[in-house]
Amino acid sequence: MTRILGIETSCDETSAAVLEGSGDNVKQKSLVILSQDVHQVFGGVVPEIASRAHLTSIVPVVARAIEEAGTSLDQLDAIAVTNTPGLVGALLVGMSYGKALAFSRGIPLLGIHHMEGHLFAAALEHRDAVPPFTALLVSGGHTLLLDVEAWGKYRLLGATRDDAAGEAFDKVAKLLGLDYPGGRYIEQLARDGDPKRFHFARPMLRKNALPQDEDYYAFSFIGLKTAVLNAVRSSGNLEADKAAIARAFQDSMIETLVEKTYRAADAFSRQRVVLGGGVACNRTLSDAMRARCERDGIRVFTPSPRLATDNAAMIARAAFFRFEQGERADLDLNAYASCPIPGLVAA
Ligand code: KG4
Ligand code: ZN
Repeated sequence: MTRILGIETSCDETSAAVLEGSGDNVKQKSLVILSQDVHQVFGGVVPEIASRAHLTSIVPVVARAIEEAGTSLDQLDAIAVTNTPGLVGALLVGMSYGKALAFSRGIPLLGIHHMEGHLFAAALEHRDAVPPFTALLVSGGHTLLLDVEAWGKYRLLGATRDDAAGEAFDKVAKLLGLDYPGGRYIEQLARDGDPKRFHFARPMLRKNALPQDEDYYAFSFIGLKTAVLNAVRSSGNLEADKAAIARAFQDSMIETLVEKTYRAADAFSRQRVVLGGGVACNRTLSDAMRARCERDGIRVFTPSPRLATDNAAMIARAAFFRFEQGERADLDLNAYASCPIPGLVAA
């Protein structure tokens, strides 16, 4: 049995977790997530403030995760840190702390790609959320559609050409006067919205598109955001219209995400779809994905909200795979703002 401490500080959550097990049989012993609420005041994450907040909380957050797991530093086999992608100043805090801990205990260090973490999140709760599967990762910074043949073997089918899905939710929320991050408020508001009042085109979703077309799996949300902006500007009474606008935006976004994911599952004959990232908290999305996929016997796995959003358990979970592959990071491991997910195979 292996015991790994995971550390995640890529954006505005300081998180640590301890996991135990081997292979795909890994148990979460603890998970501590400290969210930095301070950014709400600014309507977005302020990188410098995020780094400083990580600095003040990293020590108690890691100590608490170790304590809650009923273990000690001496009993850890490895330490895994997110080292890309993310805010470099924020990544550096968790990475440097993890490095120092690993060096002081003489145990291995692993550098984990944040999006590979999101890919593993569902597997923590669902024993069948393992490859082969189609993955849709939708967060504040990324929108990735992947075919996962095996852990560590990822075919990148589609990504966003502009805004990430979560970013589009947050920008639309701002246009409607909702708090940051606004994804969940859009979802709440959309429930009361008249679905017929507005209609926004489905971005890059041509019905006669073919798998060899460049936009078959690609995403773009900037046009949708402009459509929302135009509806907001031409509305004589935004207060009365905003639920219907939120509804029309979400319907368009969800239909696009669902349809492209279904296309990928169908093209690769996958029987499983795995969702990850903060937008996977959206119940309307997961319900729509289920409705579309289950007709064809494709099962859909979604992590619970705590594991869908940024957390260290998913980082430690991905680290089990990398650790068992024999991977180890050197102490000169660096942090990078962006980097392709490891293990990409040709599309
Ligand atoms: O994965 P995550 O916690 O952080 C990043 O790595 O970016 O994702 C955060 C994103 C935000 O854009 C937030 O608005 C969105 O996830 N989000 C949602 C919902 N809950 C969180 N978007 C739509 N519906 C939700 N219920
Ligand atoms: Zn994330």
